[in-house]
Amino acid sequence: MKTLPLCRIVGLGHCLPNAPIGNADLIARYGLQSTPDWIEQRTGITQRYFVQAGQTTSTLAAIAARAALVQAGLEAGQIDAIVVATCTPDYTFPSVATLVQAALGARAGGIALDVNAACSGFIAALSMAQGLFATQPGVQNILVIGAETFSNVLDFTDRSTCVLFGDGAGAVVLQRNPAGEERGVLHIQQGADGTHASLLHSEFGVAQGNIAGTVHMQGAAVFKHAVRQMGDADQAQALLQLSGHSLDDVMWLVPHQANARILEAAATSLGVPMDKVIMTVADHANTSAASIPLALSVAAEAAKLQVGQLVLLQAFGAGFTWGSASLKI
Ligand code: UT7
Repeated sequence: MKTLPLCRIVGLGHCLPNAPIGNADLIARYGLQSTPDWIEQRTGITQRYFVQAGQTTSTLAAIAARAALVQAGLEAGQIDAIVVATCTPDYTFPSVATLVQAALGARAGGIALDVNAACSGFIAALSMAQGLFATQPGVQNILVIGAETFSNVLDFTDRSTCVLFGDGAGAVVLQRNPAGEERGVLHIQQGADGTHASLLHSEFGVAQGNIAGTVHMQGAAVFKHAVRQMGDADQAQALLQLSGHSLDDVMWLVPHQANARILEAAATSLGVPMDKVIMTVADHANTSAASIPLALSVAAEAAKLQVGQLVLLQAFGAGFTWGSASLKI
């Protein structure tokens, strides 16, 4: 028997800090041995956004959350849980989610926690939210946020990584479905293979010497794994079949925005035409856990997402970790 979704998206919002930094500006600012053409041709990225002093992951997250609440027509006090996906938190503790809760004036006593699954964190946060709806009957509305300030962990002497990432946040408000509602978060699948941790990592952390470290990546190897995982058609079909759908029914593919060439290769492997792929990597660069909710919010703003459409989210990130989610808008 088909199971009905527990919740649906009722609001979306996002935040991109300050003015965009184009490829030529980035190269000039950090004296990189690179060209705007190389960056654009190898990655599809033309610009990114970076925070300035005083802006943090939680400040971006709170702005995105406020916009999502406005769209949902809800007050912060009506939010029962906040789940933030991030691997660039303001502090080791407390969580970004608690900082957002305080900033919004959300209900004290509500749930607030962070999830770290690197670039696939938003799928993990969605899955966490599904679990809260399933196990806690009092939960009606959940803010799920992806927020990152990757500029804090970039090595600006490494041209092969520092050109790829940007800062930003995207937020969705999930609301518990009334009985019989067929729209919403349909199914989620996740996985991880920690044996690949060294291919994409930061070299420090709390237990490794007190500072966050910077991004280190074996780009070509990560590229291949990302395409294989986000382009796994059998896995995507199996997920979609759980709700009686197939890849042909997908109206929008919203992949983690790592590199335009990764997205094109994954879409080809899934058999999804490029006009059904939401692409924001050119404008935002790779914003890690924020990239999928940012892309969803931007697509909604452009009136691309319409009620009743089937959307497939595909994510891949450090760990490696990965995940997919099927949604009926
Ligand atoms: O969320 C998942 C995270 N993963 C990713 O976002 C990225 C995965 N990987 C990639 O996107 C690509 O592998 C890169 C964009 C990082 C690199 O592209 P590539 O086509 O795989 O290039 P490459 O690593 O094979 O490097 C080719 C050349 C090298 O020079 P040599 O050794 O051939 O002389 C690099 O040093 O390009 C050089 N290079 C650059 N040249 C100009 C690397 N970065 C740059 C740069 N500007 N920014």
